Amino acid sequence: MSAFERHSVRHRSDLTGYFHAEPEGDDQLVYEYFEREVPAEEGQITQNITILQPGTVDGEYYMTKGHYHANGRCSEVYLCLAGRGFLLMQTRSGETDVQEYARGVSIYVPPGWAHRSVNTGDEPLVVLAFYPADSGHDYASIAEEGFWARVIRDESGQPVIVPRRDRSD
Ligand code: PA5
Ligand code: MN
Repeated sequence: MSAFERHSVRHRSDLTGYFHAEPEGDDQLVYEYFEREVPAEEGQITQNITILQPGTVDGEYYMTKGHYHANGRCSEVYLCLAGRGFLLMQTRSGETDVQEYARGVSIYVPPGWAHRSVNTGDEPLVVLAFYPADSGHDYASIAEEGFWARVIRDESGQPVIVPRRDRSD
């Protein structure tokens, strides 16, 4: 990952308020991502590799914080390199979508769609992303409104997408 100049890490304690229960116990790594540093200017594209660990918080699968792009005109393309899971998506006007990650699958995130990765497998989920370098990240909206669904492990160990009745679930 030496070509990727920026490295960010998110532990369980960094995700307080994101899961239906608070993450307690060992402050394990949940995910990290590596970004190429290119000028944050129109016309530039950056690359990002995310490694999302397997695990749950009280049965809710490990996930990224999720965000809208601050620049609402900016889209993104994901390519799953390893693992399995979901990409949850939603718009500010209430549209929702979910796409499934599997190795070799690419997913398009249109402008205006928030996105969150969820690892439902036993191995790290590794995804490569490309997006305009001037996209910016709006995390505050997601921290406030949450996503339209939670991804929970059921009694038989299978992932279930559970829509939230309202955003306080
Ligand atoms: O560009 C993206 O959308 C991703 O590379 C994410 O930044 C990465 O997966 C980490 O998620 P988040 O930025 O929501 O913490
Ligand atoms: Mn993004």
